[in-house]
Amino acid sequence: MYLVTGAGGQLGRALTEEFAGDELVALSHADWDVALPPPPELGRPDLVLHAAAWTNVDGAEDDPQGASAVNVGGTANAASLGAPIVYYSTDYVFDGTKREPYLESDGPSPQSAYGRSKLHGEAAAGANAWIVRSSWLFGPTGNNFVRTMLRLGAERDEVSVVDDQRGSPTFVGHLAAATRQVIDLPFGTYHVAADGDVTWAEFAEAIFEEAGLGTRVRRITTEELGRPAPRPAYSVLRSEKGAPTLPHWREGLRETLAAIRKADRAE
Ligand SMILES: NC(=O)c1ccc[n+]([C@@H]2O[C@H](COP(=O)([O-])OP(=O)(O)OC[C@H]3O[C@@H](n4cnc5c(N)ncnc54)[C@H](OP(=O)(O)O)[C@@H]3O)[C@@H](O)[C@H]2O)c1
Repeated sequence: MYLVTGAGGQLGRALTEEFAGDELVALSHADWDVALPPPPELGRPDLVLHAAAWTNVDGAEDDPQGASAVNVGGTANAASLGAPIVYYSTDYVFDGTKREPYLESDGPSPQSAYGRSKLHGEAAAGANAWIVRSSWLFGPTGNNFVRTMLRLGAERDEVSVVDDQRGSPTFVGHLAAATRQVIDLPFGTYHVAADGDVTWAEFAEAIFEEAGLGTRVRRITTEELGRPAPRPAYSVLRSEKGAPTLPHWREGLRETLAAIRKADRAE
């Protein structure tokens, strides 16, 4: 049996779809708060796809202990099930000072409470783990940049978006599909992010273009936006260890917009 944690989140949903043909137990936050020990009736899964996490980056600055309880303690609890585990980690474990892609051999140096909690979570996953670092996740459900831009684009003629952070926006469906290939690799850390890279402002322009919205993007700096948590200025991830390569972010964007249109038609 495969277990998905955080099954209500954007990646958790994509994993639940991707592994639907396998014997699967998908637990949302309401089913299992991973900060607590696993429910005894769960038994021992064959594989844990651990998508539950504290993902509120700015909120973690105010409550680093809360973030650690989920991202470190929750991961230890998931690993305590005794099965091999896929732990999803983040580009925010890096400080963003490089100007060429971060490889698995680059040393992490997280600048935020969220990044630190995710890095400690990597260790808490234990030895029988694939650490899958990805970046800038988006998909048709949940809280993500694409959905935020679509909402703002429908309301406004212009939106202000930061233009001094560069990364690879990754479609959760592509990451879920690649997870099948990751579990054929030896345990270890792998960088799995979309092909191509953009700034948030460039990504916003592509979203408006693909969605057929005329919204203008005003390019601002991270300093102007003034968010509480520091973010890496550059966090493109690439693999030197033969991790699966993903399609370009624009393909993921098109798939996401198509899925959103389909869901809107069904309503
Ligand atoms: N989002 C990104 O840009 C990004 C980038 C790189 C890596 N990642 C990593 O990828 C993974 C999936 O992220 P995502 O984007 O899918 O995040 P998400 O949409 O916020 O999903 C996370 C899920 O975990 C659940 N959760 C939170 N606390 C929990 C707890 N104590 N017990 C059980 N479930 C809990 C949340 O439920 P509630 O909403 O009910 O709290 C939510 O359904 C995470 O490990 C994240 O760190 C994300």
